[in-house]
Amino acid sequence: SADQHIEALIAEMTLEEKVGQLTQYSDVGDTTGPLPDDETQRQKMDMVRSGTVGSMLNVIGLDDIRTIQEYAVEESRLGIPVIFGFDVVHGYRTSFPLPLAEAASWDLAMMEETARIAAREAAADGLHWTFAPMADISRDARWGRVMEGAGEDPYLGSEIAVARVRGFQGEDLSAPDTIVSTVKHFAAYGFAEAGRDYNTVDIGTVTLFNIVLPPFKAAIERADARTVMNAFNVLNGIPATGDAYLQRDILKDEWGFDGFIISDWGSGVEMIDHGFAADGEEAAKLAILAGSDMDMESNVYAQHLAGLVERGEVPESLVDDAVRRVLRVKAELGLFDDPYRYIDEARAEQVLLAPEHLDAARRMAERSVVLLKNEPSLLPLKQGERIALIGALAGDKDTPLGNWRGMAEAHSAVSVVEGFEAAGLDFVYEKGADLEIGDAGFANPVVVNTDDRSGFDAAVEAARTADKVVIVLGEDARQSGEGRSRTRLDFPGVQQELLEAVHAANENVILVVMSGRPLVLNWADENVPSIVQAWHLGSESGHALTNVLTGAYNPSGKLPMSFPRSVGQLPLYYNHLSTGRPDEIPEVFWSHYIDEENSPLYPFGHGLSYTDFDYSGLSVAADGSEVAVSLTVTNTGEVAGEDVVQLYIHDRAASVARPVRELKGFQKIALAPGEAREVAFTLGPDELGFYNGRGEFLVEAGLIDLYVGGSSAASLTQQIDYQPRPASE
Ligand code: IFM
Repeated sequence: SADQHIEALIAEMTLEEKVGQLTQYSDVGDTTGPLPDDETQRQKMDMVRSGTVGSMLNVIGLDDIRTIQEYAVEESRLGIPVIFGFDVVHGYRTSFPLPLAEAASWDLAMMEETARIAAREAAADGLHWTFAPMADISRDARWGRVMEGAGEDPYLGSEIAVARVRGFQGEDLSAPDTIVSTVKHFAAYGFAEAGRDYNTVDIGTVTLFNIVLPPFKAAIERADARTVMNAFNVLNGIPATGDAYLQRDILKDEWGFDGFIISDWGSGVEMIDHGFAADGEEAAKLAILAGSDMDMESNVYAQHLAGLVERGEVPESLVDDAVRRVLRVKAELGLFDDPYRYIDEARAEQVLLAPEHLDAARRMAERSVVLLKNEPSLLPLKQGERIALIGALAGDKDTPLGNWRGMAEAHSAVSVVEGFEAAGLDFVYEKGADLEIGDAGFANPVVVNTDDRSGFDAAVEAARTADKVVIVLGEDARQSGEGRSRTRLDFPGVQQELLEAVHAANENVILVVMSGRPLVLNWADENVPSIVQAWHLGSESGHALTNVLTGAYNPSGKLPMSFPRSVGQLPLYYNHLSTGRPDEIPEVFWSHYIDEENSPLYPFGHGLSYTDFDYSGLSVAADGSEVAVSLTVTNTGEVAGEDVVQLYIHDRAASVARPVRELKGFQKIALAPGEAREVAFTLGPDELGFYNGRGEFLVEAGLIDLYVGGSSAASLTQQIDYQPRPASE
């Protein structure tokens, strides 16, 4: 059996070979960290040949993967195959919308489908393993990596993490269209202070257990994610990579996780900079003792682990346990049966960018768009209208591919200009102003924003003579993502000036925002009739956006993050606690700002449609520990549409103060004009309970308010007196 084979291998392995299985190095394919020099690269290959490298990342293409696999399988003593990983985040060659954008679809089946397609393409190109999904909850749009997650809510985040892991891994890891998934970053990386990447995290255990951990727990318990990546950050004084409480006590012991933990890039050795480890040797010791199984690129295991074991400072049994976990995943992938099983040129040719993958990219992109405002309704565009299409991003074929774009070919996305052309719209295009960026996107400064206004006049003139203006503004692909924290959430460069100049010439402005994060859109909200949040939508961006703007697809996206009115409100999230002074009073002594409202500009869950939905007949019935909730949703408008019906709770008094609202259920439904549908939810102890600061899950009796509707500001409400049955009944 596989287990016997693994035990036999472990029994035969030298200590160096064991440590090798716990060592991962990067190739130069598409690096996600500092580039190694040639000599270092040669040394790495020699190590593969000697059986002291268990995994590689960023090796791209069947030839390179085959060559390195041959080194491992044919030249090393035990012939243990290498597992090849890569950040397949929102597609491999076919690019899907950013994960945050996909999250805005609230369409779990579709997210599972795009993850499966990404897996199919990556596997067809020889890969075994993706470092996705990122399950970090974040409440701070300054953090550049919000683009890679599912937003601010742990319930939505858990459902999405489960869907994505199922998509990547499927039922059978040895199948040709599945790869191993990684939930990352364990834990609390999304809570970096002030939204600055890699920064310290200091949160209470109530937040840790109720907000941060649930998506990870769900991904492991419900979808069997086979690997977990720890994190760069310090959490409450302990670097995540050296945190035994997180990795051993919670993840491995309590949750029973039997896959393996990979460090983040160099996060082992970074514990020295954190002031936690004195040197590389201590870093290695702390990491392995804490349960970090495989070391990504920090070399501390390769250099020090064998010595630590020989001197009795690290029990060999811990190393064996880590090796066993790695070999188990390799066995599940079928690599011991056929180390070259994914290497097949003909299949790669057939699978990458297959027409049905592009079709899914368009469908997913349509569903990811959020209509933020449409008052007076300039959308959908009507036949025969003359449109001025403005903005560098409207003609941009690269930005829609976003950051963490896998192997999407640069400049391969359908631009909005191309989308309009294909739909035969009557339009003129003017760039207005550029948005420039350094070549590789890795160099500092990341962004060089031009202050060139020479295109303004032509844009203003185009606007003046058009019926409507569609202006596409926002962030370049490299302005969000890892290392791209921002202190301002405005449009970079002179884009805001362009918007105001164009608006002065023609008020019929439809603003399309391409960004990897929520931006502050106050001016637009006050002045521009229609606003569309278009994120970075992937390969089919232009076609999908055109379909949304023309009404060929009726928008159905809902925000997975609150949109702030000001950076000063951050962190901003809908599921906050109430203060002791929540209500406005004549004096200043209530919880507020003197220069801005407390509320977001657009709340979590918000998103409009070209039709209207009415919510009525909320009924609630308790049966033992379960509460049945139902309501009727009616499409009261003229066109068919999809709505995301959302259910929130507020536990009014509990032994740990509970948020003013918490999402506990949602359903995406399609309704024809005039159609009414009953929507039902069941709330049980899992939804109505919560964790205290010791990580104990409590289900308490008491009054709970329910809210249902189309956003976190839903107003249809009822109260229940929840009396859970004692566990013995
Ligand atoms: O997977 C990533 C991680 O999220 C950030 N650091 C590099 C890793 C590998 O590319």
